[in-house]
Amino acid sequence: MTAGPKRYALRPVRSPQEWAAYHAIRRQAIFAALLPGQAYDETDPDEVAPGNFPHVLLHDGEIVGVVRIDLIGPSRAGLRLVGIRSDLQRQGHGRVLLKLAEEAARLLGRPEIIINAHPTSLAFYLANGYRQGEWRNAGPLPASLIRVGKRLP
Ligand SMILES: CC(C)(COP(=O)(O)OP(=O)(O)OC[C@H]1O[C@@H](n2cnc3c(N)ncnc32)[C@H](O)[C@@H]1OP(=O)(O)O)[C@@H](O)C(=O)NCCC(=O)NCCS
Repeated sequence: MTAGPKRYALRPVRSPQEWAAYHAIRRQAIFAALLPGQAYDETDPDEVAPGNFPHVLLHDGEIVGVVRIDLIGPSRAGLRLVGIRSDLQRQGHGRVLLKLAEEAARLLGRPEIIINAHPTSLAFYLANGYRQGEWRNAGPLPASLIRVGKRLP
């Protein structure tokens, strides 16, 4: 039996079923919960732009979370719309998702991670080694969000 992080896999979204789960988690955990005035667009061109990589987090084969890993310039990666299924939050899945996304960014040669955090998730990022500060060249920051970043060791 596998235990701990070995029960997890973070991988690019592939099948129609995975795309459906990816969009459902973003709709429910992020847009409905945190951005009620904002419509969610499944066909946003950013989802398929070169250098942007939608991922799902699997736990024991079940999709429990999502993140899009966007390459920014030669040394940075942005983690976009990090979300854990609403009924499964605060069970450690988000911590693992960040760790695996950081590993993926490192393998892509991007040792600096940038996140535009919703204020309600700031404590989560701070608990996982992210810090506010000057994270340059990462595009405009919507007024309601807080930019955090991390240099991978
Ligand atoms: C934010 C989110 C991704 C965190 O994932 P999660 O699986 O719920 O978090 P974890 O259980 O891995 O939490 C790890 C640690 O982060 C901190 N943390 C997580 N959520 C927190 C919260 N709401 N308030 C304070 N600390 C929090 C805690 O230290 C926690 O450890 P603990 O539970 O042992 O105290 C998830 O709750 C989520 O999808 N929320 C809604 C969408 C969202 O806010 N996305 C981020 C937008 S930028």
